[in-house]
Amino acid sequence: MRLFTIFLVFGLLSASLGSNVKQVDETWESIDNRTKPTWYDQAKVGIFVHWGLFSVPGFKNEWFWHEWQSDHDEEVENFIKANYPPGFTYQEFANQLTGEFFNATQWAELFKRSGAKYVVLTSKHHEGFTLWPSKYTYSFNSVDLGPHKDIVGELGEAVRAAGLKYGLYNSLIEWYHPLHIQDLENGNTSDFVDLKVFPEMVDLVNLYKPDIFWSDGDWDMPDTYWKATKFLAWLFNDSPVKDTVLTNDRWGTNTLCVHGDFYTCVDRYNPGFLQEHKWENAMTIDWHSWGYRRNSNIDEYATTKQLIELLVETVSCGGNILINVGPTKEGHISPIYQERLLQLGEWLSINGEAIYESTPWTDYQNDTLTSGVWFTQKGEATYAAILQWPQNNTLRLGSVEKLFSESTEVWILDSYQQLNWTSIDEDIIAVNMPDRASVYSNDAWVIRIK
Ligand SMILES: *[C@@H]1O[C@H](CO)[C@@H](O)[C@H](O)[C@H]1NC(C)=O
Ligand SMILES: *[C@@H]1O[C@H](CO)[C@@H](O)[C@H](O)[C@H]1NC(C)=O
Ligand SMILES: *[C@@H]1O[C@H](CO)[C@@H](O)[C@H](O)[C@H]1NC(C)=O
Ligand SMILES: *[C@@H]1O[C@H](CO)[C@@H](O)[C@H](O)[C@H]1NC(C)=O
Ligand SMILES: *[C@@H]1O[C@H](CO)[C@@H](O)[C@H](O)[C@H]1NC(C)=O
Ligand SMILES: *[C@@H]1O[C@H](CO)[C@@H](O)[C@H](O)[C@H]1NC(C)=O
Repeated sequence: MRLFTIFLVFGLLSASLGSNVKQVDETWESIDNRTKPTWYDQAKVGIFVHWGLFSVPGFKNEWFWHEWQSDHDEEVENFIKANYPPGFTYQEFANQLTGEFFNATQWAELFKRSGAKYVVLTSKHHEGFTLWPSKYTYSFNSVDLGPHKDIVGELGEAVRAAGLKYGLYNSLIEWYHPLHIQDLENGNTSDFVDLKVFPEMVDLVNLYKPDIFWSDGDWDMPDTYWKATKFLAWLFNDSPVKDTVLTNDRWGTNTLCVHGDFYTCVDRYNPGFLQEHKWENAMTIDWHSWGYRRNSNIDEYATTKQLIELLVETVSCGGNILINVGPTKEGHISPIYQERLLQLGEWLSINGEAIYESTPWTDYQNDTLTSGVWFTQKGEATYAAILQWPQNNTLRLGSVEKLFSESTEVWILDSYQQLNWTSIDEDIIAVNMPDRASVYSNDAWVIRIK
């Protein structure tokens, strides 16, 4: 009797602690239906970091190896011929990924000042080089070669010390991994996944506890080959980050824009209207490359105004923006990236009220009368981000009439002034903007309607 009672109490206790609660089973229906951590939707702005051996040539883009070996891209082939000795291999770039200026604290502080709330690092890109001492890489990693540092670990500590969330990008594919090539040839084996990809992903999560598992390189096989739902069921049920982690949609030929916590669809996805499912606009400050390019020119970088425009459009349509920077092989983030991020951060420090923790306005995402005006909402307030200063300082809005009553107040966040407004015609609200000389930003402005 007594023994029975003890067992009963024990059983109730462990049930109430939730130790046996499985959130999901190994199906997409179940994974997609899971209750998602809320921090990601609230964060809105993240920084993507592409760093790897491709940062060494810093030429063309991060697909350098593939363009050289498989696509036989003329530019890349000529570049190699002109600058490297015969017989030079891509793997030899590892010794030149010196990272002597890599300082995780400096990166994290810069990202924090950009206004971003999370950071995603390429722990392993399609080349297969890992930025942590993965026991599955046999010396093709950043501790045995190159910087001799655990980049994934050091950056994670610094990013979290700065109060930001930390995500890890992981490429499923490795272009030239013999086991993957073997699996592709056989068509019925999965040694690459069983012996390399799957255990390595589990190891990565256990070691560094990412808040986002950002998958990529899924495109030549379906999710079943990658054992995606099996991995995700482990991630969401049993991993050390089961309650905080989110994932994207790149888990096989059949999952893009269909399954996952947030959809990335295509690179630089920016649909321009409200999406039903949470999504992310993963984009680059250097329009042409995710990896650093040594021969880039100033007009190939997004301006701060363009960054703010993309941010505003993205958030108004229910997305997060993931802004990519490519550090140099020395581990330095060049001043052009620094300037863009710091200017974005300045804008967000004034206008972030309309961005962080906001929701899209379901009625309209942009104004029907004046183009370049994008809406968000939070609490009782509706925010309109204005991308072009209106002629004659009069902003004419065609979508907001129903938000207005006599007591409605309109404030511009930039110089924090209350603005007069009038109702003209049937459905047009005209807002008197202040003297342009009195506002701070030259790029975009936000008014709060409440
Ligand atoms: C989806 O979640 C709801 C509520 O948590 C649950 O009742 C339902 O059974 C789930 N559906 C599937 C297919 O898992
Ligand atoms: C890294 O950067 C931080 C912040 O600028 C600085 O305090 C620290 O001394 C740097 N560490 C090294 C090893 O240079
Ligand atoms: C894969 O297919 C080949 C050729 O049809 C066959 O010989 C082999 O036994 C199969 N291997 C497995 C693991 O099913
Ligand atoms: C609203 O945005 C969409 C997507 O960018 C665009 O096609 C449409 O023209 C915009 N509306 C106005 C009035 O500018
Ligand atoms: C702005 O003012 C000018 C001159 O005062 C006038 O000709 C023009 O129509 C006005 N434009 C708008 C959009 O009200
Ligand atoms: C708003 O209107 C009032 C009354 O017409 C006027 O006194 C005030 O100067 C106006 N404020 C601005 C910022 O235009």
